[in-house]
Amino acid sequence: MAANATSFTSPLADFSVGSLPPQVDYLVNTIANASFMTWVFTLLALAVAYDQISYFVQKGSIVGPAFKLPFMGPFLESLNPKFEEYKAKWNSGPLSCVSVFHKFVVIASTRDLSRKVFNSPTYVKPCVVDIATKILGEDSWVFLDGKAHVDYRKGLNGLFTRRALECYLPGQEAVYKQYFARFLRLTKEAGGKPIPFMHEFRELMCTVSLRTFAGYYMPDSACKKIADDYYLVTAALDLVNFPIIIPYTRTWYGKQAARMVMDELAKCAAKSKVRMAAGGEITCIMDAWIKDMIASKKWTEAVEKGLSTEGMVKPSPLLRDFSDMEIARTLFTFLFASQDATSSAATNMFQVLANRPDVLDRVREENYRVRNGDIHAPVNLEQLESMTYTRAVVRELLRWRPPVIMVPYKAKKPFPVTENYTVPKGAMIIPTTYMALRDPEVYENPDEFDPERYYTGDAEEKGAKNYLVFGTGPHYCLGQHYAQLNLALMIGKASVELDWKHHATPDSDEIKVFATIFPKVCCGMAECFDVFEAN
Ligand code: HEM
Repeated sequence: MAANATSFTSPLADFSVGSLPPQVDYLVNTIANASFMTWVFTLLALAVAYDQISYFVQKGSIVGPAFKLPFMGPFLESLNPKFEEYKAKWNSGPLSCVSVFHKFVVIASTRDLSRKVFNSPTYVKPCVVDIATKILGEDSWVFLDGKAHVDYRKGLNGLFTRRALECYLPGQEAVYKQYFARFLRLTKEAGGKPIPFMHEFRELMCTVSLRTFAGYYMPDSACKKIADDYYLVTAALDLVNFPIIIPYTRTWYGKQAARMVMDELAKCAAKSKVRMAAGGEITCIMDAWIKDMIASKKWTEAVEKGLSTEGMVKPSPLLRDFSDMEIARTLFTFLFASQDATSSAATNMFQVLANRPDVLDRVREENYRVRNGDIHAPVNLEQLESMTYTRAVVRELLRWRPPVIMVPYKAKKPFPVTENYTVPKGAMIIPTTYMALRDPEVYENPDEFDPERYYTGDAEEKGAKNYLVFGTGPHYCLGQHYAQLNLALMIGKASVELDWKHHATPDSDEIKVFATIFPKVCCGMAECFDVFEAN
């Protein structure tokens, strides 16, 4: 045994076969005499080489870094994503790629490639972001595929019909009234000093969502706790996370917060079941869903017992009974889908209208008119829909600052996305929305916020294929009509009841990515406003 050998020396050390050619004999001897550390370094080198080669093979002809930082790739940068870096990536080519840990990610940046991904359910399925499956559960309905997804979704469509949306309006008006009074009080208490409002807008949108989803079954204290803690779920939503959840890390806190929200929603479902069984009126999405379940059960029982169904309306589709926790998990997916997107829209909306008094004045004028001059008058759905200018402002805001800039999907099998490139099975493929919404051939001066495009202009028709704000294909946003009407209600009501001043900083017009997009300084919580009563 060699003099410097350690106790880890390979058992092959004394192996020798005299008849082997000298080169092979040399190789066998080298392997046999290798120390433990040599083995470790050799295996490491092989693993690095495998990681690089597999990256090259997956990358194929598309744009991407020439080399990957061994194993983790640009993981550290992905913890603090910069909007400018995303933009550079989108501009680098119609398809580009990056590899982080085990995850190979392909980014589609043109309108047509994005649409192709959204509309290829045979090849792809949504994966939101890596951590989402752990937070929502692998078996969450949003990850269902094909017929199972279509069937589940059909059972939810009834919750977003015009008739249903009308029932939720009073609850939403009540939340805006409560929070606008709070905004005025906060400004007054600050004694004229501008105060940060991003958290306020997030809390407002969270409360309005919770009241729309679970009504007043949820106590104020639970609403407040969820509005505060939901931030932890957002903070956990990096594009790619460390593969396992380690206690006391961001992902762990996110998962704990999600569990707490689902428990609260399950308690609400139990209360709603009792009230709906007693014939109560629908006040929220939970009520509407449970009422459909009760009607389905009645119908099925009548048919099974051979009773007359005369005078009954057959629910379509017929729903099974869902447990309290199943209801909670589904409504949590609504909150998950809506909270960051609507908070982003609300923050950008208040900011841009403070900076564009010409637009705010027109919104205000339209809302006064529809409310017959009574600023506290509630509006019904028809009145809301009649406000074409206010709705054009919402439409343009979502084009100009699309809250969801990327929608991660996963390739279920090799996906020939172009003639020259096939996305490997298991890779993430991300259609982006931003570039389609900034296409200069469709939107003149695309960086300018100009609601006129949707009021007197032809952006709606011309940009019909470009408006990817809510996705497209089988997973397009279930809440898109609700979201737009609700934003119109919010800004319309704010325009007649409030006035507000934005204290801009040099970074206010820059974009910060925090799951969705916010004004840059916002994430330092410093986007400041004063809120006054409108006069
Ligand atoms: C401005 C606000 C919103 C924006 C920008 C937005 C955007 C999106 C986008 C881009 C998708 C992915 C679509 C796709 O993969 O094709 C999506 C899906 C979804 N959204 Fe929204 N959303 C908003 C508000 C809401 C609200 C308020 C709700 C709930 C009430 C909601 C519920 C959903 C659900 C459930 C899905 C998944 C649908 C499925 O997988 O079948 N969203 N949304």
